[in-house]
Amino acid sequence: MVLMYGMVNRAAENLVVSNFGEEKWLAIKEKAGVEVDVFLSNESYPDKMTYDLVGAASEVLGVAARDVLISFGEHWVLKTARQEYGSMLEANGRTLSEFLNNLEFLHTRVAMIFPDLQPPRFNCTDLMENSLRLHYYSHRPGLTDFVVGLLQGLGKMFGTPADVEITERKAEGADHDVFLVRWATPASI
Ligand code: HEM
Repeated sequence: MVLMYGMVNRAAENLVVSNFGEEKWLAIKEKAGVEVDVFLSNESYPDKMTYDLVGAASEVLGVAARDVLISFGEHWVLKTARQEYGSMLEANGRTLSEFLNNLEFLHTRVAMIFPDLQPPRFNCTDLMENSLRLHYYSHRPGLTDFVVGLLQGLGKMFGTPADVEITERKAEGADHDVFLVRWATPASI
């Protein structure tokens, strides 16, 4: 069974409670059949629980699963990671481009704190002044739109909002997911 640290489900809870209220979160947990009262950041929970929560959130809130994942990705970067792991984010780069080029090392550092981490892998190709291609490798299916949200959140965090296009999808037979990330230079915004 593949496990994910509780901080992921906690972040989902934080997003739902702050935007829609406690009752909606309880309804989502019930629909997902999740009986955990409090998610602990450094405990591991089955991946299935996270997927079930996303599915239930989509039904209860009447939002497509794709949009749940995108919002969750943005929230993860702009709220959770910034508030709880700010120094790690800062150490990873000063611009969107620099940050994405260092992304492959970020979870290596995270794994020092969370030893059972089963992190995704990333690398960049086609580096241009205002764009790059990000390659995403994971043994977990179904998180492509979560990555879109993460990338959009990072663009906002650096003040260079990003346009993210999925150019290859593992779900459609590609070796892995590829994202074309484009941004405007701060001066031209
Ligand atoms: C300091 C900030 C961060 C921390 C502490 C962190 C931590 C984590 C943790 C605990 C997981 C669950 C995996 C597991 O428990 O085995 C995870 C998954 C993931 N992280 Fe991060 N992360 C951070 C930043 C980022 C950023 C900036 C990205 C940007 C793309 C990212 C992309 C992902 C993805 C896509 C997954 C899903 C798992 C998968 O694809 O297999 N993370 N991260």
